[in-house]
Amino acid sequence: MKFNLSEVTEVIQNRRTVYPEFFSDRKVHKEQIELMLDNAKWAPTHKLTQPWFFKVFYDEGTKTFGEFFSETYKKIAAPEMFSEMKYNKMKNRAEKSSAVIVACMRRDEKERVPEVEELASANAAIQNMLLTATAYGIGVYWGTGGVTYKPEMKDFLGLKPQDQVLGVLFLGYPAEEWPRKTPRKPREYYSEWIED
Ligand SMILES: Cc1cc2nc3c(=O)[nH]c(=O)nc-3n(C[C@H](O)[C@H](O)[C@H](O)COP(=O)(O)O)c2cc1C
Repeated sequence: MKFNLSEVTEVIQNRRTVYPEFFSDRKVHKEQIELMLDNAKWAPTHKLTQPWFFKVFYDEGTKTFGEFFSETYKKIAAPEMFSEMKYNKMKNRAEKSSAVIVACMRRDEKERVPEVEELASANAAIQNMLLTATAYGIGVYWGTGGVTYKPEMKDFLGLKPQDQVLGVLFLGYPAEEWPRKTPRKPREYYSEWIED
């Protein structure tokens, strides 16, 4: 065995979504986030396009993100749909986090590979980050939808129209015990073998 497979399996199987409401005040260090970013780049990448891009909001930067996120929601929501609760949640979740990382796919200039491959690669890079966070005991909530996919978000991040936002990662240490596993269907459900 080249690596400690039981530890690798433990990390993979114990990665969990942790919502910022359950974060403690313990801070995630910059060096920990740097290792997450360093590990991200070892995702497979067709033609080495390396299509991932991460914008890290740290320290007071989390407030900057929270302001943008909630204010943009207020701006674009239809008045009859606007929810003060949602607005506050968007602001508070960012401020409750040690860091907010917006994970993106930055399209290869020459479009050497299909978009689906760039998305696959950038999402694999995100998983590397999540597993690194798990090994540290850091919880991450991967959020999407709403403002995440709006052009205002791309402008805010300085992305081009052909790039894509894949999610907002909220980082923090869980206040209490690590969340329990969410259910998964068994292997037989999602795999088939052909042996003759
Ligand atoms: C692409 C993607 C987008 C997600 N977006 C949201 C989201 O907007 N809101 C949310 O509550 N969870 C979101 N999640 C997290 C899932 O809800 C979570 O992974 C699922 O409940 C399984 O729980 P686990 O991560 O603890 O295994 C997202 C996950 C992925 C992969």
